[in-house]
Amino acid sequence: MLSASDAAHVLRFQSFLLEDAARLDTWHAAIRATVRPGDVVLDLGAGMGILSLFACEAGAARVYAVESAPSIELARLVAADNGLEERIVCLRERSQDVELPERADVLLTDTTETFGLNGQLLSAVIDARARLLKPEARLLPGEIELHIAPVEAPRAYSSLVDVWARDFRGFDLSAIRPFAANNKQPLALEAEALLAEPAALGALDLGSLTEPSFAGRAHVTATRAGTAHGLGGFFAARLAEGITLSNDPRQATVSYVRALLPLAEPLPLGPGDDLAIEVSTHDGREWSWGVERTPASGGPAERSHQATLHGFPRTRKELLGK
Ligand SMILES: C[S@@+](CC[C@H](N)C(=O)[O-])C[C@H]1O[C@@H](n2cnc3c(N)ncnc32)[C@H](O)[C@@H]1O
Repeated sequence: MLSASDAAHVLRFQSFLLEDAARLDTWHAAIRATVRPGDVVLDLGAGMGILSLFACEAGAARVYAVESAPSIELARLVAADNGLEERIVCLRERSQDVELPERADVLLTDTTETFGLNGQLLSAVIDARARLLKPEARLLPGEIELHIAPVEAPRAYSSLVDVWARDFRGFDLSAIRPFAANNKQPLALEAEALLAEPAALGALDLGSLTEPSFAGRAHVTATRAGTAHGLGGFFAARLAEGITLSNDPRQATVSYVRALLPLAEPLPLGPGDDLAIEVSTHDGREWSWGVERTPASGGPAERSHQATLHGFPRTRKELLGK
């Protein structure tokens, strides 16, 4: 049985998702534009099944609502309560472990979170294409673009990274600081924190992707003086023709927070400074990011490189496998 605190967490997360009117309106419009009467739909990461309900409204004959978390029990309840228990098949499993009696015409998956790729979204989609979807299936999203910009985030940096460099009743905890600086963190990024116009690192085509990895590069030019504490990352997921779900901080947008990829040390920037940025990820689980700054005033370039691989002390067993 679910503990009281787990139940509270599940309900809080689902209500957080549902209260986001921009997210729901975008998904609703995209599902109405894509799902056709009689379609079989796979809702991968169904939560309490809101996208499955939208798919039924658009005429889906059957929806497989696949969810590894306990929230699927809410989906079961709501489907029955809305007279849809025959059309929405709720399965409490990871999509990678599920077997379906038929292949689906449409994939719905809102597993994008802060930086477009929730852990294992890419491998889950590759697996779904191979086993659970028809070859010509329509994918929502079909493409995810990752965007990046240097950001000034002194409070987040102080509480997440520099906190470890302070004196704690005379004890030195600074050995932890380098690990903290190598972790990707959620960030409530506001547009005012951007130090340059964001640039696209590249796009992932979920319909043709064969490896669950991404590597992208971008060049940005600082538009004002400030201190870069890290890179701010966000995404734009194309759900249907002309319908995009994004957590771009410059738009009135979905409530998903953005990602902070901290720098090892805060980097002062002047207007016109050039930043070459590289970001790569394996399946949204491990990330690495590098920055090379070339000052507008001339002078030597400065580089920094971080990776989640260095985000926690490894035990001997983890490093050597024994
Ligand atoms: C952001 S929630 C979205 C829930 C719902 N689809 C909605 O739009 O409100 C993402 C959900 O996907 C689930 N999830 C992620 N990857 C999954 C997988 N491979 N198989 C099953 N569930 C998955 C998570 O447990 C989480 O509940």
